[in-house]
Amino acid sequence: MLRKILVTSALPYANGPLHLGHLVEAVQTDVWVRFQRMLGHDCLYVCAEDAHGTPIMIKAQSEGITPEALIARVAEEHRRDYREFLIGHDQFHTTHSPENQEVTNLLYQRVRDGGHITVRSVRQAFDEQAGMFLPDRYIKGECPRCGAAEQYGDSCESCGATYSSTDIKNPLSTITGTPPVWRESEHYFFQLGQFEKTLRDWLQTGARQPQVRAKLEEWFEAGLKDWDISRDAPYFGFEIPDAPGKYFYVWFDAPIGYLGSFRALCKQRGLDFDEYWRPDSTAEVYHFIGKDISYFHNLFWPAVLHGGGMRKPTAVFVHGFLTINGAKMSKSRGTFITARRYLDLLPPEPLRYYLAGKLDSGIDDMDLSLDDFVARVNSDLVGKLVNIASRCAGFIARGGGQLAAALPDPALYHEFAAKRTVIAAHYEAREYSTATREIMALADRANQYVDMHKPWTLAKDPARSAEVLAVCTQGINLFRVLMSYLAPVLPQMACSAAKFLNDPLSRWDAVETPLLASPLGKYEPLAIRLDPKQVAQLIEPAAGIAAVAPTSPAQAAAAPAQAASPRTNKRDAAASAETAGNANIADFTKLDLRVARVIEASLVEGSDKLLQLTLDVGGETRNVFSGIRAAYSPEQLVGRHVLMIYNLEPRKMRFGVSEGMVLCASGDGPELFLLSPDAALPLACASRR
Ligand code: MSP
Ligand code: ZN
Repeated sequence: MLRKILVTSALPYANGPLHLGHLVEAVQTDVWVRFQRMLGHDCLYVCAEDAHGTPIMIKAQSEGITPEALIARVAEEHRRDYREFLIGHDQFHTTHSPENQEVTNLLYQRVRDGGHITVRSVRQAFDEQAGMFLPDRYIKGECPRCGAAEQYGDSCESCGATYSSTDIKNPLSTITGTPPVWRESEHYFFQLGQFEKTLRDWLQTGARQPQVRAKLEEWFEAGLKDWDISRDAPYFGFEIPDAPGKYFYVWFDAPIGYLGSFRALCKQRGLDFDEYWRPDSTAEVYHFIGKDISYFHNLFWPAVLHGGGMRKPTAVFVHGFLTINGAKMSKSRGTFITARRYLDLLPPEPLRYYLAGKLDSGIDDMDLSLDDFVARVNSDLVGKLVNIASRCAGFIARGGGQLAAALPDPALYHEFAAKRTVIAAHYEAREYSTATREIMALADRANQYVDMHKPWTLAKDPARSAEVLAVCTQGINLFRVLMSYLAPVLPQMACSAAKFLNDPLSRWDAVETPLLASPLGKYEPLAIRLDPKQVAQLIEPAAGIAAVAPTSPAQAAAAPAQAASPRTNKRDAAASAETAGNANIADFTKLDLRVARVIEASLVEGSDKLLQLTLDVGGETRNVFSGIRAAYSPEQLVGRHVLMIYNLEPRKMRFGVSEGMVLCASGDGPELFLLSPDAALPLACASRR
């Protein structure tokens, strides 16, 4: 029976580049979609930019552009990255679109009319200088439990406490560095608890991932709380229709973005939106997501759909996180590998293949180890798969360029072809690692076949040319089966192989019959060996330079190792420094770096983090507060030369005005190393220009 399927990947935030973690998900989804299409199913794949929210608004402000300009630029980069990684979206839209606004308003009105929205007053931190309420991620202060400094407004990375931002001690806005005031404002809440029964029932449907089910049980046990879906102006998002000055929280309209994107596709292709989304739809809907956003997709989202009179997803497929060489991706270790960096160095398919080899239906993290990557790709794709074709193609070309009319070993061929059922089951179940392992086991056997019959030896005897052709026809046919099985993972290679074979390789069941007595195209090398030196360049030279000032956004961008927050708390995780953009030369030349001498250094009353420094910069005196107390005592500093950012906008802090930053190198730990000029340098020449 032919199925109608709609598939999505999570919408990437429109304020930072795609990285290899995003690619895990895109590849997992894309392989599944391509596989379904090979089976002949009607499978559509939509995605979009997640364009709203505070981090995007702030980032646009800091670049001096409109949020619209920012999201348009980032969308362009994302599209190009996806395209070059061969991710075949039918539609890649944006949540900041009329289609999405239309569906968002519709769902909101329906849940409101259904009595699922309640309004109440919320006390929240307000930054008077910036004129806005502060999400927890934009407040830093001391942990109310252990006293650790520089903790975010919702949780402590030092002791693991979670708390409300109202409890944090000595809070400061990370946007302006000023202490926030507390203000009340009305918020709109979606009453999730009203959907407990619906959600529990829904979770019983379909094959659920056991770890996801267990997590959901925990959440049910803890009780489903009302969900705050409104934010006050200024906010980059959709205004709530019946509440001027209030905006939908980005996570309300983000999943609706799947529908917005699909609606745009329906317009283009004349498809029937309701056929997929009415409550009794027989179409299947699947969301591929990472485990950090499971709460949104397994609780809020189906509840909103249900309350809004639409069908719920058939299933949500959750995957684990990508680590690089055994550790979380990190900018300071140089392992925050962007899609662009990868593509500048290497072709896309080796990574697709490698990730497929790691992906299964579980939620465990998976590691990209660069050595393993090179070894795996060179051994499997070049050494095994392509080797079969390359060893046989030449002999067929020399023997007239046409495959023989019969297979010498039809039983072997049919064994290969019969594997399509179990391999299909593995793809269907997202057990790609098992699928690729099965396929490579077949590749070994195909190579054994060729090794055993040695066409290169037979070819020395002109009387045995029919045998040579037969053996190579067998080899090429085995290759054709394997290439079909890998086509969802390696679409470009499959396309080149299809040209060579004169056979489309686009239908799963086509391998049932061998390819006989047909002409072959010209053989071109289908994959090239990875060069370990090239691959090593994926990792950028480590150790960032950090300008150290307290709770400054500049520090977050320059020293993500310290500011990076684990993605356990996703409420506004786009603020995470891991997603900060690259600086270009123009950005760098804006900085006026100068050598200064520390003339005085002292502790700062009321801060266990800061030192106050008086700097002499070529005769001028500057006052700088620097968060280096953990690494240096004042006595160590007096008389030392340091590097400073001379033209940084002065910042008013609780303790006084800071007129610059001093530069430090930092690693992943708490250590900091003040940068000094080379002692041999005549200091009179020490300004950067
Ligand atoms: N914008 C939200 C999703 C909204 S969906 C309605 C978001 N964006 S994200 O850019 O932070 O992440 C997009 C997807 O990439 C998520 O599914 C996330 O889990 C996934 N990944 C981000 N980093 C990842 C890894 N290191 N490894 C694997 N997947 C990761 O969340
Ligand atoms: Zn703490």
